[in-house]
Amino acid sequence: MKPKLGSCYYPEHWPEERWQKDAEEMVAAGLSWVRIGEFAWSRLEPEQGVQNFDWLDRAISILGNVGLNIVMSTPTAAPPRWVVDKCPDMLLVDVEGRSRQFGSRRHYCFSHEGYLEESLRISKAVAERYGNNPFIKAWQLDNEYGCHDTTLSYSPSALKAFRNWIAKKYESIDQLNKAWKNVFWSMEYNSFDQVGLPNLTVTDPNPIHELDFKRFSSDQVVNFNRSQASVMRQYTKMPLIHNYMGRITDFNHYDVGKDLDIASWDSYPLGFLEDRSTQDDEFKLRFMRHGDPDFQAFHHDLYRTVGQGRWWVMEQQPGPVNWAPYNPEPAPGAVRLWSWEAIAHGAEVVSYFRWRQAPFAQEQMHAGLQRPDGENAPGITQASQVSSELKEFKDIEQVQSKIALIFDYESCWAWEIQPQGKGFDYFELVYDNYRALRSLGLSVDILPPNQSDLKGYKVVLMPGLMRVSRELEDAIESFEGVLISGPRAGSKTTNMSIPSQLPPIVPGVKATVASAETLRPNAFISIKGLGSFKTWMETLIDYDNIIEETEDGRAAVVGHEKNIYIAGWADQMTLKMIFSRVCESKDISTTKLEDCVRVRETLTHRFWFNYSNQECNVGSVCIPPSGVIWESIKG
Ligand code: GAL
Repeated sequence: MKPKLGSCYYPEHWPEERWQKDAEEMVAAGLSWVRIGEFAWSRLEPEQGVQNFDWLDRAISILGNVGLNIVMSTPTAAPPRWVVDKCPDMLLVDVEGRSRQFGSRRHYCFSHEGYLEESLRISKAVAERYGNNPFIKAWQLDNEYGCHDTTLSYSPSALKAFRNWIAKKYESIDQLNKAWKNVFWSMEYNSFDQVGLPNLTVTDPNPIHELDFKRFSSDQVVNFNRSQASVMRQYTKMPLIHNYMGRITDFNHYDVGKDLDIASWDSYPLGFLEDRSTQDDEFKLRFMRHGDPDFQAFHHDLYRTVGQGRWWVMEQQPGPVNWAPYNPEPAPGAVRLWSWEAIAHGAEVVSYFRWRQAPFAQEQMHAGLQRPDGENAPGITQASQVSSELKEFKDIEQVQSKIALIFDYESCWAWEIQPQGKGFDYFELVYDNYRALRSLGLSVDILPPNQSDLKGYKVVLMPGLMRVSRELEDAIESFEGVLISGPRAGSKTTNMSIPSQLPPIVPGVKATVASAETLRPNAFISIKGLGSFKTWMETLIDYDNIIEETEDGRAAVVGHEKNIYIAGWADQMTLKMIFSRVCESKDISTTKLEDCVRVRETLTHRFWFNYSNQECNVGSVCIPPSGVIWESIKG
């Protein structure tokens, strides 16, 4: 696969006389893809019953005629005002019961049937017109499901759909009462119509009520996407894509991915560092111009799996964004660094957001490849450099990693509902494991919780996985590598209760969690000869073999060479020590890297990345500031 570059373009934002020049300049900059149309609904259908696609016909033909491949989008993330007037109750409702208003985007509730119909109608109109257009080589459905906190909606439509969902799942109210154990606090119901949504309760709702609501809400996203995909498939043979976001976990991306051909995501390293990272201020200051060296890679690896091997960066940060608490300029070279890191992880396309900075509306302070006056912004030179550097490569092919890490959306929801202590965050726990692996120079595959085959992996990690699925259980049975689990692994039933046989319910792990505690941020439990536990610690009993012990005399790590259970949330030092020993036992070579240096291997090359302003050396390899270098690993 030969990676390509692209950009996101909004012909409707610019005078038509400008389109030809823009198209030519994109090609001159080395771009070969352009994404359009995802927010253009009000220009395609200015009012009910009035369609105007002529301008888009002309834009497509201009872009296509200079040789650009077009990603056309369905415009359903931004329904225009008249659609809201037609379906006033389509607006999503937040957890406080307030309806989110028209005036930006993503204001629809996934459960509103009228809106679903509208969205399928406009998608069909666009698909009918352009499904066979020779310039359109891929489709994007909607834009960033769940962004701006829009997956969960507590609207009347959501309530109605939720009642249907639980009725289907539990068949009788008795079975629901039993499964939810509603005897607690006299929460028993006599009919499905009495069941409400789990918001605005006096204190915590029943955790399984919340978990089922999250499962339902995720299914609503899956259904919305599936309905749109099936309309599109009637009119086009081109691949269907969605652009997911960073650290959005409210819906199951693996499930959505099953109805699409390619996964993509929108990578804003500096925005994410300031807006979504829980690292301390010192870390944020150090990486303010490069971004967290593992955050992008984690999502690249995740979306490679969501896309079943095929994935893109649909939007790549090109300069300062407008939406984080602070929006610094990337270091010179950082845009190139990010682009290459995506390519090394298997991105088929890296597309910059956006072609030109818009001098108006919400994102007027968001950089583009061009400034608002049409002159080059710093990002474009770097994009062009990547484009010429790509010429020296034939194909860039991925290989299966030796290490796999399981990431499970349901565990995210479960531990959000019941963190048991501030700071217990499933994403962070998995991400800490990922960071430790990467800082040992390892490439990692991320797998879903229902992975049924672990062939080829030498080490599989499943920190915090709330329960082991049947598929995974079978896969573990025939797995010959090392399984590393815990803390909190196999600790709940599907109904969000403690299993009758106490956890961990993980195949091959012999131990019992007698109790679990959470720790305030400045409390740590030292582990003899290693680092310490933070946030979460279990007291294990009945284990067959202790590998590491805490200073206060508890088991820290138990198990044997094929199966290891970690009893708490280990710090980086501990994770690295445990992982390097395991790797050594499996003949996997590791390299201790500074926290700003990362490495990724493809079939033919080893890529080195430097997320700092200083030159970095690893053995004989010297990586310039903000640099990326590669070496061939095959004759
Ligand atoms: C993305 C979104 C784009 C644009 C961009 C700005 O989340 O898909 O439309 O808003 O952020 O960084």
